[in-house]
Amino acid sequence: MRKEIICLFTILASAACSSGPQTLKDALEGKFLIGAAINEAQIRGLDTRGDSVLLRHFNAIEPENCLKSEEIQPQKGVFVWDLADSYVDFGIRNNLAVYGHCLTWHSQLPDWFPKNDDGTDVTPEELKARMREHIHTVVGRYKGRIKGWDVVNEAVLDDGSWRESPFYRILGEEYIELSFRYAHEADPDAELYYNDYNMFRREKAETVAKLVNDLKAKGLRIDAVGFQGHYGIDYPDLEELQQAIDIVTATGVKIQFTELDVTILPTLTRSADIGDKSFAEVVADPVLFEKHREMFVPYPEGIPQELDEKWNSRVESLWDLMLRNHEKILRVNMWGVQDGDSWKNEYPTRIEGRQEYPLLFDRSFREKPCTRWIIENAGKY
Ligand code: GLA
Repeated sequence: MRKEIICLFTILASAACSSGPQTLKDALEGKFLIGAAINEAQIRGLDTRGDSVLLRHFNAIEPENCLKSEEIQPQKGVFVWDLADSYVDFGIRNNLAVYGHCLTWHSQLPDWFPKNDDGTDVTPEELKARMREHIHTVVGRYKGRIKGWDVVNEAVLDDGSWRESPFYRILGEEYIELSFRYAHEADPDAELYYNDYNMFRREKAETVAKLVNDLKAKGLRIDAVGFQGHYGIDYPDLEELQQAIDIVTATGVKIQFTELDVTILPTLTRSADIGDKSFAEVVADPVLFEKHREMFVPYPEGIPQELDEKWNSRVESLWDLMLRNHEKILRVNMWGVQDGDSWKNEYPTRIEGRQEYPLLFDRSFREKPCTRWIIENAGKY
């Protein structure tokens, strides 16, 4: 009889266990949205395994590239909608929150945008007209379907000063406010965000907080600041990150972790014989490459178990911090679904045998220990 009771208890306990959330989106329900950046294969349904992990675990998407200005308006007045339309349709069809990235950014910007035909800078008036046309056309097309936009990406440097982008060179700080104004005109219901990397740096967080206050004082809409989470095992310091969250949210806006991926490989460093050469040039030189092979491909047999454990516990600490701050966070967005999708595999250049490990699912589409940890622990916060 006693044995039967114990047996019944075990069955009930395991049923109770398996009735807890089994996916990221269920585990994070009521806290914040969980998104992933998706690529062309996923948008077009050609990566069926990737799509099935995406639809099972995530409730938001962001496009890796197809809404960037060089993709969407490669030549003046020539808009290429095919992939962007498919991206938005994919999200709506699958009941996902669809995000837009990004409207004003110095990188992946087509050459023509800030220039006259003779290569000189356009006038401030002409640049405003081009920005207005671009933002109105793109945001207007997806009005009511894209929930929120990264309006300006990466305008501030790590020391808190303004980046000398073509926009800044021609218009000064005003280009930021204009971008927010044009986006709001095109879709008054869309959420609008400022997005940047290394937001954990105090000087940067302070400049962005001031920017948010200035935009608000001018009556402009800004809903959140995106912290791009291109992090590593040793950075950022989590106390610094918490301080930056506090500095930014003291303005009254929320934050979101927009491009989360945690590097496992050590950062490449320059020795005297590398000098000013780009890493691509070093890799292309057989003698130099051989000399530095261990640095470029530190784990040819795969990630050692000890490092794997260290990485997982680092990701858990980051998630512990994000979960403790959940009331200040709108969304956490992974920069890719599984490790094989990550841009970090080819950063700073493509190197045979060098593989990154930055996301929540491995190359076989399996959840990692930290992913299970999130699913099992999110409800405790
Ligand atoms: C920045 C951009 C992203 C992406 C990453 C690297 O963080 O905001 O769109 O390009 O760089 O891939």
